[in-house]
Amino acid sequence: MPSTVSMTVNGKSVSKEVDDRTLLVQFLREDLHLTGTHVGCDTSQCGSCVVHVNGRSVKACTMLAAQADGASVTSIEGLAAEDGTLHPMQEAFREHHGLQCGFCTPGMIMSAVDLLQNNPSPSEHEVRDWLEGNICRCTGYHNIVKAVLSAADEMRGAAKAAE
Ligand code: FES
Ligand code: FES
Repeated sequence: MPSTVSMTVNGKSVSKEVDDRTLLVQFLREDLHLTGTHVGCDTSQCGSCVVHVNGRSVKACTMLAAQADGASVTSIEGLAAEDGTLHPMQEAFREHHGLQCGFCTPGMIMSAVDLLQNNPSPSEHEVRDWLEGNICRCTGYHNIVKAVLSAADEMRGAAKAAE
């Protein structure tokens, strides 16, 4: 049965009629054309669909669009600043070559940003542990971990400078 869902996506209010079975990832990709959020498995294993819902990372293939009604959702498209300046995590992935084909990258970045929101100084082990739900089929984990640790340094430095 179709019903109307309304939410804020990347800072903009959206309201659309969707079938009750529509997944959040489908809603983002097919209704809003935000195709940076990828579908790699559809079975909650790969993490390529991770977005933030009310500030927390969520696998968007495990949630119905209707469950996000009223929520604030951020996808990879909403992470950079308005003027296009990359988020420090995006910049760190670029600088440390934390990607190969790039398919897993949006989900990796969204998960990693959530990690640093809760733990600004993660150890390498904690980064690896947190990213356990994100699969990189190019097996490029080493540079991904380096990128996350570098972004953590960068973001701590920026926070200190702002004090
Ligand atoms: S598509 Fe959601 S976890 Fe793989
Ligand atoms: S960079 Fe290709 S799947 Fe991760």
